[in-house]
Amino acid sequence: MIRPYRSVLYIPASRERALEKARELAADAIIFDLEDAVAPDEKGRARELLARVLREADYGARARIVRVNGLGTEWVAGDLAAFGDHPGVDAVLLPKVNGPADLDAVAGPVRAPLWAMLETTKGCLNAAAIAAHPRLEGMVMGTNDLAKELGARFRPDRLPLLAGLGACVMAARAEGRIIVDGVFNAFKDEAGLRAECEQGRDMGFDGKTLIHPAQLDIANEVFAPSEEEVALARRMIAAYAEARARGEGVAVVDGKIVENLHVATAEALIGKAEAIAALAV
Ligand code: COA
Ligand code: MG
Repeated sequence: MIRPYRSVLYIPASRERALEKARELAADAIIFDLEDAVAPDEKGRARELLARVLREADYGARARIVRVNGLGTEWVAGDLAAFGDHPGVDAVLLPKVNGPADLDAVAGPVRAPLWAMLETTKGCLNAAAIAAHPRLEGMVMGTNDLAKELGARFRPDRLPLLAGLGACVMAARAEGRIIVDGVFNAFKDEAGLRAECEQGRDMGFDGKTLIHPAQLDIANEVFAPSEEEVALARRMIAAYAEARARGEGVAVVDGKIVENLHVATAEALIGKAEAIAALAV
């Protein structure tokens, strides 16, 4: 069964209250952050707190992803030692991955699947090689860091980021990896969040990283197939089966052609809707 990644919520590993609250939140996945959301003098305490919480707390179906500190920092070795083979960890997320060699550097002590943050210009240029790393499972866009490196301005249409976003989605799809879009910083702006979720969904992202629980419902809704989409997918599959029974290779639904590739997309959409429905029971 495919696992949905519509909503991927960051939680600073130092915030005990938020760690506790997340067991009840409607997030498909959680990124427990040891990196930028934790101040340097809090790193040790956050690591210990998170190691204990992940041993004791039940996060249900939510994927548990730990973002460690970056290569070259004084904390990364300790983070990998604490979480690389921890029973409460589903994946380890390495920030600022510039190329596949960065993943090789952490693969040894980590038993869990690896995820990579794509947030540097080098990383985006090397996205295909990163996605092809045999230990890689998922990719996360770091749009704030990417905008900073590019010297790009923030615009509602994200035009300055589209080359990087598109390169990373293409790389992820070429290798069958999960890929999640970057965060929307203005966490009280619901219309802005919705528009950015829709843009990411239309580009092919599996979901969006989020910084606040108030963002969960919109991401869960936008990245889930709607009832109309599921109904249309079922009609396309049925119409194509009828066409095949008549010895034809093409059907027409609502004035649009349906070929075998459209049927494959329709089946994938229904599979996603079923995986989401299974979460609710
Ligand atoms: N995950 C889980 N719970 C969260 C949360 C999160 N990311 N952010 C806030 N909450 C909880 C708070 O604990 C609070 O719960 P309570 O009222 O039951 O105690 C509730 O949601 C409301 O929080 P609110 O007061 O609106 O927000 P805040 O001012 O406490 O925090 C941020 C705002 C932005 C600092 C906080 O949301 C945050 O730290 N987000 C994650 C940042 C991060 O990880 N960045 C790294 C990647 S970009
Ligand atoms: Mg970053």
